[in-house]
Amino acid sequence: MTEVSVAEEDAVATDELVVLKSVNKHFGALHVLQDIDLTIARGEVVVVIGPSGSGKSTLCRTINRLETVDSGTITIDGRPLPQEGRELARLRADVGMVFQSFNLFAHKTVLENVTLAQIKVRRANKQQAQEKARALLDRVGVGAQADKYPAQLSGGQQQRVAIARALAMDPKVMLFDEPTSALDPEMINEVLEVMQQLARDGMTMIVVTHEMGFARSAADRVVFMADGRIVEQAVPEQFFSNPRSDRAKDFLSKILHH
Ligand SMILES: Nc1ncnc2c1ncn2[C@@H]1O[C@H](COP(=O)(O)OP(=O)(O)OP(=O)(O)O)[C@@H](O)[C@H]1O
Ligand SMILES: [Mg+2]
Repeated sequence: MTEVSVAEEDAVATDELVVLKSVNKHFGALHVLQDIDLTIARGEVVVVIGPSGSGKSTLCRTINRLETVDSGTITIDGRPLPQEGRELARLRADVGMVFQSFNLFAHKTVLENVTLAQIKVRRANKQQAQEKARALLDRVGVGAQADKYPAQLSGGQQQRVAIARALAMDPKVMLFDEPTSALDPEMINEVLEVMQQLARDGMTMIVVTHEMGFARSAADRVVFMADGRIVEQAVPEQFFSNPRSDRAKDFLSKILHH
């Protein structure tokens, strides 16, 4: 990149929204991310798959700096991940994260769950935050649940609230780490449909999932990880019909035939 002004407002707009370069991460002796190079374009939907323990969650967690890296760089929209403080809080707000376990505040209503961070991090006023929250809850199909507590909702409804909560921060990119794997089968589709719609609306998304139907229909690219490395990546059609590596072939034969 050419030299640019240091003023953060002037960060150069590029098609590359999330860029990881030579990222390495250890947990003790375990080399959990090995020389990860990954570039996600604005508006791109990338599905990350791979065996248990291959580093998929750790990858997600480094991208919003829930985990530090040992070496390499990660930039979001042209800016390196900040180390700490308010800049980090803002970065985290730019990167929406949805986990397997919905992580809603149990003692707050659905509406409060979706307004809290808007007020604290984005400094929205309460009324604006609530209007936005209601619109987002409608968008994910749980508008009628606004005044309930999370425990009064189904898993699928809670996960959709978690998505609305992340969207309330106007994130530049959304990370999903196995968002449907804790759900009963009949609730999986309602969450996937919300994610499909988000993808169609142009959201940049990184999705760890074993939902191959979603990968086939929504992903622009599949990234396959094994043992802390990106082993191969391809458009879904190519990856599923003609995986190149033995690791991917082996993995696919296991998940597609059970
Ligand atoms: N905080 C931690 N401390 C030590 N080891 C960890 C920690 N978090 C993850 N690991 C290890 O790092 C490796 C990668 O874990 P990670 O959770 O990223 O894998 P994953 O691909 O998401 O697996 P899964 O499909 O089971 O969710 C695993 O061997 C895991 O045990
Ligand atoms: Mg994981």
